[in-house]
Amino acid sequence: MDWGMKNRLGQLMPGGRCFFMPIDHGYFQGPTRNLEKPGETVKPLLPYADAIFCTRGVLRAAIDPLSSKPIVLRVSGCTSMVGEDLANEEITTSIEEIIRLNAAAVGISVFIGSHYEKETLKNLASLVNACEDYGIPVMAVTAVGREMEKRESRYLALCCRIAAELGARVVKTYWCEEGFDKVVNGCPVPVIMAGGPKCETELEVLEFVHDGIQKGAAGINLGRNVWQSAHPVAIAKALRAMVHDNVSVKQAHEIFKKAKEKKPTVKA
Ligand code: 5RP
Repeated sequence: MDWGMKNRLGQLMPGGRCFFMPIDHGYFQGPTRNLEKPGETVKPLLPYADAIFCTRGVLRAAIDPLSSKPIVLRVSGCTSMVGEDLANEEITTSIEEIIRLNAAAVGISVFIGSHYEKETLKNLASLVNACEDYGIPVMAVTAVGREMEKRESRYLALCCRIAAELGARVVKTYWCEEGFDKVVNGCPVPVIMAGGPKCETELEVLEFVHDGIQKGAAGINLGRNVWQSAHPVAIAKALRAMVHDNVSVKQAHEIFKKAKEKKPTVKA
C-alpha cells in the first residue's frame, strides 16, 4: 500500500478502529431532525469522532477549515426522498475537488439488487480508479433505499463482498442480528456499521454496536442514534469507549449514564 493511502487510513482508523460521525443525511432527505444546522450539531461531538462524513456543501458551509478532524467526503447523490428512485445516484464531485477539499477518504453508495445496480457499481469502480491514483481511500456504502427489510446477512454479505472486489478500501453496511459474522468474514476489507433509524434506547444502540464489534466490525458510522438522542455527547462518549477501548455494554452504559448527568460547564 502506498504511503499516502496508508497514512490516510491510519488517521481515519487509529489502531484499525473507527467512529465516523455522519452528517450527510441532507443530501437526499433535506433538513433532518437535529441536523438542521449541521455545524452546531457536530461541534460538541467532534472530540469523540475520528472523522466527519459529509458532502462538500456542508463542509464548506458548516465545518471550520482550520479543524484537524479528517473528512470523509460523500461524493454520490442527485436523488431525493420525494423523487422516483433513490438508487439512481451519480458521482457528484470531481477528483480535483476531492483533492482541493483535502478529503481523507470519500464515500459513495451502491444499491445492489436495485434497478440501478449496474450504474451505482460502475460509479464505485470509476471513483476507485480516480482515487487510487492519489492514494485516497474509497468507502462503499451498501444502501438499501427505502427497503429496510433487506438488512439480512446473505444480502449484506453479497453487497460488502462485491464492493470490496470493485476496490473499496472500507465498506459501510448495516448490522444484522443473525449472521453478521458472515458479513464481516466474507469481506476482505474492514466493515463499518451504519446506524439506521434511531433505536428506542441508548442501551439498544450500545448492545448492537458491541455485538458487531465482537463479530469483527472495525467500527461505526452512526448518525441519528447519536445526534437524535436526548444526550448526544454522552452516547458519543460511550460509543468511543466501546470502539477504541473495548469496554463492555455494561461499562459503556455506565459511561453514558455518568456523562448525561454531568452539567455543562458555563464559562464566566
Ligand atoms: C446516509 C448515510 C449515513 O451516513 C448512514 O446511514 C449513517 O447514518 P445513520 O446512523 O443515521 O443511519 O450513508 O445515506
